[in-house]
Amino acid sequence: MKIAILTSGGDSAGMNAVVRAVVKAGILKGCETWVVREGYEGLVRGNAEYMDNLKTQGLATTEPPSASPLQEATPSFLNSLRFGDGHLLRDGTGDYVGGMTLKGRYIVRVGWDDVRGWFAEGGTLIGTARSKAFRTVEGRLAAAHNLVIEGIDALVVCGGDGSLTGADVFRAEWPKLIAELLSQSKITEAQALAHSHLKIVGLVGSIDNDMSMTDLTIGAPTALHRICEAIDNINSTAFSHSRAFVLEVMGRHCGWLALLAGVAGGADFIFIPERPPKGKPWEDEMCAAIQDAIGKRKTIVIVAEGAHDLDLNPIRAEYVKDVLTDRLGLDTRVTTLGHTQRGGRPCAFDRILPTLQGVEAVAALLESTPETPSYMIGIQENKITRVPLMEAVEMTRAVAQAVSEKDFEKAMSLRDPEFVE
Ligand code: F6P
Repeated sequence: MKIAILTSGGDSAGMNAVVRAVVKAGILKGCETWVVREGYEGLVRGNAEYMDNLKTQGLATTEPPSASPLQEATPSFLNSLRFGDGHLLRDGTGDYVGGMTLKGRYIVRVGWDDVRGWFAEGGTLIGTARSKAFRTVEGRLAAAHNLVIEGIDALVVCGGDGSLTGADVFRAEWPKLIAELLSQSKITEAQALAHSHLKIVGLVGSIDNDMSMTDLTIGAPTALHRICEAIDNINSTAFSHSRAFVLEVMGRHCGWLALLAGVAGGADFIFIPERPPKGKPWEDEMCAAIQDAIGKRKTIVIVAEGAHDLDLNPIRAEYVKDVLTDRLGLDTRVTTLGHTQRGGRPCAFDRILPTLQGVEAVAALLESTPETPSYMIGIQENKITRVPLMEAVEMTRAVAQAVSEKDFEKAMSLRDPEFVE
């Protein structure tokens, strides 16, 4: 089996550990391993530009013989990506491409040493992009072509719900795409036959922890740690000046980061999208709760970026600050944590979780048949799980739907069936 892995959507700590685990587990199971750079965009672009570059420079366009995947690659693919300004000197497939620009080369075979140490690296070293082209049939046709010409028959996608839906659409469409490529004579009968089934598995990389049917998404624990550290830092200055702070945290439509950070950091009031404050107006409810805590000398309010009131009007950190200042006379500041929550080194669990899930992803691919669904690898009650990818995506969408219908009880119970007020 030839496995390619890509990361898609917003980056999250632990994505590199996913790539490392899939590459190493794949090699140990006798597979060839590839990375697709820049998410689905790289899949659509493939290596055509790179091959054209070679041709215009009068260089051979045939792939070099593959080196042993265990062979040391120096300088490593990692170093090329991080320090080589896009210049790939050697990529684990052998000692060609010395000094050649990586520009135009999106699908790269990688070996064992290329991913050494990747568990500790933040972001995603193979890049991520939001691809418009992949949302079109033409884009997906080009993507299918690129996979077939590299001989790749299995795809691991690490991203959020949009990215995983894209993967499932691609797989469902695959037989049609292959038929189309054959009718356009872009692939041979033999290639069509060898690629009649695309094996796909999804891993959830997202700091938001917003995917149903898994307890944690890759990157969420690290982002939570970041927020906790920020609250600790803010606590000391807030205490010194006897101030209130309103912290805006990420999470898109999900309140997990805000809620858990509030619990871990001792917040006085938390706004999350799934359960808006019930008081009408909510300002009264918040002020009453904060009033009770004023003896503490400092006040911390956390606002999830997707927070809103019962009528779905957004609740903004700046407005919360004005309420605290005007109604309670608190000297208040706003801190928006922004992308510091997303970047940086993964915490221990964001190395362990992707490692276990990457191994399971390879096992799922090896067992994949045209009849089995595309799986999402999750974790439930401390066990690594396989669930049908589209079931998880549909349940995630049901939460958003319940919120948009102002059925907040349903939203909370979908997020956590055991939730009690
Ligand atoms: O989904 C991850 C996330 O960080 C969200 O929490 C946030 O709303 C969004 O991505 C920010 O996206 P961008 O980096 O494109 O601004």
